[in-house]
Amino acid sequence: MKAPKFPQQVISLAIIFAILLGGLIAARILLVPKSFGKYGHYRADAADEVASLDIKYAGYKACLECHDDIYVIKEKSNHRGLSCEVCHGAAAKHIEAPDEFVPDAPRGRGYCPLCHGYNPSRPTGFPQIITLQHNPGKPCMTCHNPHNPLLPHSPEECSACHREIASQKRVSHHSSLPCEKCHTVPARHTTDPRSALPKKPTTREFCGGCHDKNAASPKEIPRIELASHGGRYLCWECHYPHHPEAK
Ligand code: HEC
Ligand code: HEC
Ligand code: HEC
Ligand code: HEC
Ligand code: HEC
Ligand code: HEC
Ligand code: HEC
Ligand code: HEC
Repeated sequence: MKAPKFPQQVISLAIIFAILLGGLIAARILLVPKSFGKYGHYRADAADEVASLDIKYAGYKACLECHDDIYVIKEKSNHRGLSCEVCHGAAAKHIEAPDEFVPDAPRGRGYCPLCHGYNPSRPTGFPQIITLQHNPGKPCMTCHNPHNPLLPHSPEECSACHREIASQKRVSHHSSLPCEKCHTVPARHTTDPRSALPKKPTTREFCGGCHDKNAASPKEIPRIELASHGGRYLCWECHYPHHPEAK
């Protein structure tokens, strides 16, 4: 009996396959670290290596012992959410030897704008400045205490914090309406914004107060049939209230 004869290309493929398989087995034996897979799909020794690294950050509570004055002020300020080491850098060494390793303080004008420089992607109302125009040439600390950044006087204009909305409204059909026409604003909102949020309109009837065809508002205001216009949807699902358009 003769052995069955395979075509040449099948034999070539079989050889390539055998080499690849051999390579994989060799790599598995030679290259995969010993502790791999002991606990899971990772190198078990890595856990010990990471645990043995030096601790660099002390945590803000560690600062209380020696800098209680600053700690207490900051806890009550608008910077209460920032840890000391966000601005001063890792300070674990400083705790061990306070005089030998003194943390840096970011005194340059470039630093604070990392968070406060104007950037339209930041949340509504986050305090922002246009760095080049905001009191140029002077360090921020001449007017703001970094541990208690009160505003020298509280901004009266809504636009100080809601710049984008204010500039849209200014060029819109609603430019003549003050913000307070549609929002009831508690006095505390301009000094501690998040603790006292203004009210927003909630019903179609609110807009209807000026735009319904029977409303007792000035004649030049465009009118709609409140009962049917836009179906049962809220007006601002179709018209942006700060820049309404009817096209
Ligand atoms: C054991 C006491 C102690 C603790 C805890 C401590 N500090 Fe200090 N810190 C000092 C002393 C003392 C100095 C003054 C060192 C000097 O000027 O030689 C100082 C100075 C500083 C300075 C001044 C730098 C400058 O430019 O003037 C900063 C910033 C600072 N500490 C931040 C921290 C932070 C952040 C923490 C918490 C992570 C902390 N410290 C925890 C004792 C402490
Ligand atoms: C928003 C950033 C920021 C945070 C958060 C911050 N600091 Fe500072 N800190 C500064 C700046 C900027 C200075 C320099 C102030 C100056 O030169 O007028 C400074 C100065 C200091 C000094 C030097 C002494 C002084 O009063 O000028 C100490 C000490 C200090 N900070 C400790 C702390 C501790 C402790 C915390 C946390 C409780 C903390 N800082 C949180 C920015 C910050
Ligand atoms: C890591 C980000 C971060 C850095 C860096 C930072 N801030 Fe702030 N800052 C905040 C946050 C968060 C608030 C609170 C915002 C809020 O209440 O909506 C705030 C609030 C403020 C306010 C407004 C206070 C008010 O009453 O409305 C001022 C002014 C201010 N920071 C100044 C500074 C100065 C000066 C520096 C530099 C020393 C600085 N910030 C660095 C995050 C930062
Ligand atoms: C000459 C004093 C002075 C200097 C210097 C200064 N500011 Fe101000 N800053 C003010 C005053 C006053 C306000 C109150 C609002 C206004 O009038 O614009 C303010 C407001 C702010 C606000 C709140 C803005 C808002 O619309 O909510 C932030 C954030 C701020 N400053 C950050 C900084 C930063 C960061 C620096 C440094 C790059 C700096 N300031 C330098 C005086 C100053
Ligand atoms: C000092 C800064 C500041 C000033 C001044 C300010 N706001 Fe705000 N406003 C905020 C912040 C911060 C929020 C919260 C934004 C968030 O949670 O996303 C907010 C939220 C709002 C909201 C939304 C409330 C909600 O439930 O979503 C309205 C409406 C509003 N402000 C209207 C006004 C009007 C009108 C004025 C002027 C009379 C004004 N604000 C002045 C900072 C300010
Ligand atoms: C014609 C009425 C009207 C006027 C005028 C108006 N708003 Fe509004 N505003 C609304 C309505 C309605 C909403 C709710 C929109 C929503 O829920 O989608 C709203 C929502 C907001 C919000 C929440 C965030 C957002 O963008 O939806 C802020 C902040 C705000 N307004 C600030 C202001 C400020 C500041 C002014 C003045 C410059 C102003 N509004 C003027 C009707 C108005
Ligand atoms: C489903 C989307 C939708 C809703 C919801 C909606 N509108 Fe409209 N609105 C439009 C469209 C599209 C136009 C332009 C075409 C037209 O006149 O019908 C318009 C036009 C208008 C006009 C201009 C009319 C004129 O004659 O110039 C006013 C004013 C208006 N709407 C107010 C409102 C008010 C107030 C509400 C809430 C009671 C509302 N809209 C709800 C889609 C909507
Ligand atoms: C206090 C009265 C008043 C209220 C409340 C009011 N508007 Fe208006 N609205 C006006 C005036 C004034 C105009 C501009 C008329 C003009 O252009 O001459 C206008 C114009 C409009 C237009 C037409 C824009 C265009 O392209 O012609 C729309 C759409 C609109 N408003 C939607 C709304 C919505 C949605 C609300 C509720 C969130 C609302 N309005 C609340 C007074 C009001």
